[in-house]
Amino acid sequence: MSYRIDVANSDISFPCEDGETVLEAAERAGFAVPYSCRKGVCSECAGDVFDSEGVPERALLCCLRPCADATIAPRKIEKRERIVRKKVDALVFRKTEVSADVTVLQLRLPTGVRAKFRAGQYLQIHLDDGTVRNYSMANPPHQSDSVHLHVRRVPGGRFSDGVLKELAIGGKLRIELPYGEFFFRENSEKPVIFVATGTGFAPVKSIVEDAIRRQLGRPLKLYWGTRHRRDLYLADLAEKWQEEGRVEFIPILSNPHDGWTGRSGLVHLAVLEDHPSLASHQVYACGNPAMTATARESFIQAGLPAEEFFCDAFFSTSEPAPL
Ligand SMILES: Cc1cc2nc3c(=O)[nH]c(=O)nc-3n(C[C@H](O)[C@H](O)[C@H](O)COP(=O)(O)OP(=O)(O)OC[C@H]3O[C@@H](n4cnc5c(N)ncnc54)[C@H](O)[C@@H]3O)c2cc1C
Ligand code: FES
Repeated sequence: MSYRIDVANSDISFPCEDGETVLEAAERAGFAVPYSCRKGVCSECAGDVFDSEGVPERALLCCLRPCADATIAPRKIEKRERIVRKKVDALVFRKTEVSADVTVLQLRLPTGVRAKFRAGQYLQIHLDDGTVRNYSMANPPHQSDSVHLHVRRVPGGRFSDGVLKELAIGGKLRIELPYGEFFFRENSEKPVIFVATGTGFAPVKSIVEDAIRRQLGRPLKLYWGTRHRRDLYLADLAEKWQEEGRVEFIPILSNPHDGWTGRSGLVHLAVLEDHPSLASHQVYACGNPAMTATARESFIQAGLPAEEFFCDAFFSTSEPAPL
């Protein structure tokens, strides 16, 4: 059984199979709508669905499984090349503990298989219990024979505090990619602000390294917030970008120790201090969900057009999705 999904105020329509979500159906038909977690927790995919009398109701398109024809109004919808995702058994190539709670995990793809993704996107790790975990690629797309992940240890986390510890070099991990709408928009000349907390640095690294390689030449500024100096696990790399004039790097500590002479406080507030108006910027925010939510709200109040804010909130997606 298939249902017809119409997009309000447009001539777009596409079929949605029984049991399929509206997000999956849109992608299958070659349309992109905003999303991040695909699990009903981040609200990035929220839109309206209209009842038979045309009354709109809020719905999460990543969870909405129609049982009749429907009309929807997503936040945004655009034609896109159809996404082809790959599910492969990747080989564990290297595990490096770069801080007390962050491991850089390097995975090699099977011979002849390439990872096709856009800088900033994420992958899903499939665990034996049938659940998945989302992790952003930290390497740029041209390094397509491997993927590098920055995994923060969540105490008691089945993957980050369990499976990861047991993973031996040469072992296998089932991954699927690419996912995500958090990627660099190249059809703009606006100066870019990256706001990251913790391992939110991972997709920023991928985007910056890609921009440097391709000499994209847009002004890039990175605000990276962590609790302590030691949590800025790749500060050397960000400082090198700054020395080379590629990126302006502003580290912010929320819990500075004695001797820290840099900025302190909340990372989104540092952005606002430096940019009372954000009307002419584009912002990419990634990491702690409380930070991304507050940043979105306060940046839009500071004049940032809503469509110039891109975000991946690092929610846990291991809990069952809401119906
Ligand atoms: C699009 C996207 C990209 C992501 N990219 C990264 C990345 O690059 N690096 C990274 O370190 N993380 C990333 N995350 C977050 C990561 O997917 C989750 O933290 C994941 O659930 C951890 O899995 P786990 O098995 O270790 O813990 P789980 O078994 O999933 O969780 C154990 C317990 O901890 C809680 N929990 C898990 N994660 C979090 C969290 N982030 N915040 C608060 N509570 C949590 C759970 O609710 C549960 O109670 C991303 C999330 C999304 C949605
Ligand atoms: S993508 Fe639907 S709630 Fe996160």
